[in-house]
Amino acid sequence: MDEREHRHDRTRVEELLELATGIAEEAGQMLLAKRPARPEVLATKSSPTDVVTALDRAAEELIRGRIAEVRPHDAILGEEGGDTPGEGGVRWVVDPIDGTVNFLYGLPDWAVSIGVEVDGEIVAGAVHNVPRGELFTASKGGGAWLRGERLRCNTGVPLAKALVATGFGYAAGRRRVQAEVLAQVVPQVRDIRRGGSCAVDLCSVAAGRVDAYYERGANYWDHAAAGLIAVEAGARIGGLNGRPVSPDMALCAAPGLFEELHDLLVPLDPERD
Ligand code: IPD
Ligand code: CA
Ligand code: CA
Repeated sequence: MDEREHRHDRTRVEELLELATGIAEEAGQMLLAKRPARPEVLATKSSPTDVVTALDRAAEELIRGRIAEVRPHDAILGEEGGDTPGEGGVRWVVDPIDGTVNFLYGLPDWAVSIGVEVDGEIVAGAVHNVPRGELFTASKGGGAWLRGERLRCNTGVPLAKALVATGFGYAAGRRRVQAEVLAQVVPQVRDIRRGGSCAVDLCSVAAGRVDAYYERGANYWDHAAAGLIAVEAGARIGGLNGRPVSPDMALCAAPGLFEELHDLLVPLDPERD
């Protein structure tokens, strides 16, 4: 790619990021304004505790509507609305509320997450932690940012000193295995955090609020945007044994700690369920 094409490409990516950020901001404001004191569960999904509220759906509709107004030919993958095909290689990956259980209970970590793919690769991402009023953004090669401040993950932290975020799935069988694995991890690290939002956890890695994150069963829309934010902050994200991040396993930390945590997890066979 020559210099001019490269500049053109960057402008395009920055425009996509600006759009993603604006929409994540607007969806967050709508959710804050409309969140009742006690949101009601509208339906359950994979298990009785995997819930959806009317506002998960309303937020996704708002996000889809805004994207379609400006870029009617783009594809959209949303947690609540599924995959809408498009043309031209741009696909939006949306989790309207990541951390729905926190949203339900009024805990302060839930986020609107919007990632943008070009030709299958995430190039821009915005994660709006709405209760905390924090907008995390990143573009490929353009760094990770929070309130005008460039983010850098913690480096040089040994496993024994690492604060590690994790999450659990919604199915009882998976949770049993996750708890068994966790019992072997806890004695080896500084401590564990279960924040309740994969997107916020990955942004916390980016911001140095935790040192690492791992979870089995996180979906693409959970980590699409925040994974780029973590990587642009210097972290590594992947699965086990050289595989890419996938619902099988998401593991994220600065290089060095990534390998240490990886080598602790592999013999515990966390993917056995
Ligand atoms: C969930 C959250 C949670 C993680 C689960 C996700 P949701 O997303 O990210 O932290 O542990 O794996 O499914 O259901 O709140 O959108
Ligand atoms: Ca989610
Ligand atoms: Ca969700």
